[in-house]
Amino acid sequence: MVWNGRKLLLGITGSIAAYKSTWIVRHLKSKGADVQVVCTPDALGFVTPLTLSTLSERPVYSEFVKSAGGEWVNHVELGMWADLILIAPCSAQTLAKMAGGLCDNLLMAVYLSARCPVWFAPAMDIDMWKHPATAKNVKELTSRANHRMLGPANGALASGLNGVGRMAEPQELIDALEAHWASTNADVLPQATEDLRNKMVLITAGPTREAIDDVRYISNHSSGKMGYALAEACLEQGARVVLISGPVTLTPPQGLYAFVAVESAHEMQKAVESYRTKFDIGIFCAAVADFRPVHKTTGKIKKQDAVTRIEMHPNPDILAEVGRNKQPQQFLVGFALESADGIAEARRKKSTKNCDMMILNRINNKGAGFGADTNRVTLLSALGIRELPLASKKDIARDIIQHLILCYIPS
Ligand code: CTP
Repeated sequence: MVWNGRKLLLGITGSIAAYKSTWIVRHLKSKGADVQVVCTPDALGFVTPLTLSTLSERPVYSEFVKSAGGEWVNHVELGMWADLILIAPCSAQTLAKMAGGLCDNLLMAVYLSARCPVWFAPAMDIDMWKHPATAKNVKELTSRANHRMLGPANGALASGLNGVGRMAEPQELIDALEAHWASTNADVLPQATEDLRNKMVLITAGPTREAIDDVRYISNHSSGKMGYALAEACLEQGARVVLISGPVTLTPPQGLYAFVAVESAHEMQKAVESYRTKFDIGIFCAAVADFRPVHKTTGKIKKQDAVTRIEMHPNPDILAEVGRNKQPQQFLVGFALESADGIAEARRKKSTKNCDMMILNRINNKGAGFGADTNRVTLLSALGIRELPLASKKDIARDIIQHLILCYIPS
């Protein structure tokens, strides 16, 4: 419980103790934490990205730009993603850069962008540790809010000397994290930055039902879980949330500005229309049925009436309609559920529906999709393409909202 869903960004710098970081990653993962590794270029002389990415189950970042494809690594987003940054080992060089605010590598950019606690475990030779310059840097860093130094320990050093300078033992670092998280809260704390305070967010969620007669309907398997998790994530950020939901078995979150329960696509469209000019951010998560029966029979169609064909009519595309009439200050987010050509189709829908962000759900993704408690999505926005690895729908929702906050620049 203490570890579940904790997001730890592990910074690794150029020190022989970097080999111990692989052990740290492995143990954090086995406890249930989500670990993102960011290496300085010097660290890569000591450990390989392949080892670290295999253990962390995430890509390892060390450059501002990914070499394949030239895509930018968003350091602000990484800094905001983390619940805690641990720099272990932290070399004398990185210690000095942190103290002076130097920003010549990705890890330093992440450090300078972070809002979460920053822990660091120095590792260096005894004379480097004793040097007045290092002492001054340590004094500066330990006086900063949210900063904590662990170690260094006394013992054998890589130089052959003995003394203070060894990185604190990995088990000690893990024990310290466990004690910290156990004392803050047993559950993952929401990031209460309230970046959406005073913003109205409209969210559509769940399926729609298109009636054939009074007892039968056409619908889909949407559970509404993703839309409801997004509503909660927006509430955590202080937004006024209007949730327009198709029929689901979920309880609406506490604290909504408005909740509108609907059945059909037409009812959903009407509800959206009544808030169309009022909301700042629209998140269209509902799995709207694309067609409805042309005629709804009153009562129940009897077996002997032998209905073998149902004539269908296209439903209104609610998001496309809002997109056509989008106001300059509005930010629109759509979902694209695809079985093939995911990115291309999501791009197409983003443009045709006039969205600022499109979230791609692939129906063949393991652990994702209708009814599941987990999801795995790809975000397409002005910040490029970002993959969110498999996580609970709650965590995915928080990550989506963090990303949205970064993209959303109110006019
Ligand atoms: N959407 C909507 N109204 C509809 C259909 C879709 O508001 N009648 C919204 C969904 O909520 C989603 C986005 O449009 O945000 C894309 O939905 P999706 O089902 O992936 O695409 P469609 O436009 O329906 O196209 P297709 O079914 O051909 O993939």
